[in-house]
Amino acid sequence: MSAASAQRPVNGRRIIVGLTGGIACYKLAAVVSKLTQSGADVTVIMTEAATRFVTPLTFQALTGRPVYSDQWQHVESQDPQHISLARSADLVLIAPCSMDMLAKLAQGRTDDVVSLIVSAVDRSNQPVLLAPSMNAVMWNQPATQRNIEKLRADNFGIIEPDTGWQACRTEGVGRLPEPDQLLDAVEAALGNR
Ligand SMILES: Cc1cc2nc3c(=O)[nH]c(=O)nc-3n(C[C@H](O)[C@H](O)[C@H](O)COP(=O)(O)O)c2cc1C
Repeated sequence: MSAASAQRPVNGRRIIVGLTGGIACYKLAAVVSKLTQSGADVTVIMTEAATRFVTPLTFQALTGRPVYSDQWQHVESQDPQHISLARSADLVLIAPCSMDMLAKLAQGRTDDVVSLIVSAVDRSNQPVLLAPSMNAVMWNQPATQRNIEKLRADNFGIIEPDTGWQACRTEGVGRLPEPDQLLDAVEAALGNR
């Protein structure tokens, strides 16, 4: 590891990166690679929908760790994996965070591996950052905006989506910020503790 990476706030920190089903999943390969290069111990968790966009194998190779994509599969732990993984995390980043996952987390539902693991994270001392990413109409739905307000009140960190080109070939708000912006948000959250 370089001297520069040893000084980054992420160095030596245990970070869970959760992917949900959005077209912006492809950007997370760069985020996970950069976190790993900076000395973070990264574990990737993915909803079934996320695995339709990018493969667990990519993230297993980038992190050198198992990828959790099924709540019923216990890939490395004798404890319930959602408890042991959640306990060990210094920070959780969910990116891209789908409209569906925002709704689930706002309601406290736990029926997939990402929402299940997040349910066992203590947000009073382990930051959970959500990076919503979706079409502008989906982002502006009253249900989405209600869920965002609820999630803020429940002590989730929200990384605001960018405005610009969207995969649906329109311009608007809802774009996932670029990898460096996501890394800045992670470092800021870790640097505060
Ligand atoms: C091609 C395609 C692209 C999609 N992109 C998004 C997206 O960017 N954001 C979003 O919230 N949902 C998107 N969806 C819908 C989600 O994948 C869908 O709601 C899914 O059930 C989310 O599951 P999850 O929250 O368990 O990952 C997309 C669906 C398809 C088929």
